[in-house]
Amino acid sequence: MTKPEVYDQLAAQLSSLLAGERDLVANAANFSSLVFHSLPDLNWAGFYFAKDIELVLGPFQGQPACVRIKIGQGVCGAGAAKCETVIVPNVHEFPGHIACDSASNSEIVVPLMKEGRMIGVLDLDSPKLSRFDRDDAEGLEQLVRILLSSVTS
Ligand code: SME
Repeated sequence: MTKPEVYDQLAAQLSSLLAGERDLVANAANFSSLVFHSLPDLNWAGFYFAKDIELVLGPFQGQPACVRIKIGQGVCGAGAAKCETVIVPNVHEFPGHIACDSASNSEIVVPLMKEGRMIGVLDLDSPKLSRFDRDDAEGLEQLVRILLSSVTS
């Protein structure tokens, strides 16, 4: 299967997994489990939610992670500040990267945009260099749209 096909299949699975539930934490928890167990070469998959000037750790799968990240700091904070998906092929070359798990070598962060507001980010880490590309960005943005439309505003 091509990556877009994998993400289309994941989108269908996610839609049925979240159907009938409108709680953001519950749906983010099932989202992170589905993604972590379905996509290859991940060592962390989860969420940070925006609270004031910080991102605060939300549901995730993987090793314990740093709890608070200032908006603008690290890869998560950069994605949150820009309100754009950030792909980092080699985290060791990213200025200000926050190392939560020493196994991580590449990372992708997708902002959660709800009615024009940034409410948090999805963060995926991989032990493989250059694990994430534009197909992953588009596929994960599609999954994030499903999550956001599932929850009450
Ligand atoms: N590496 C991230 C921190 C979060 S962990 O990877 C789970 C960053 O630089 O923002």
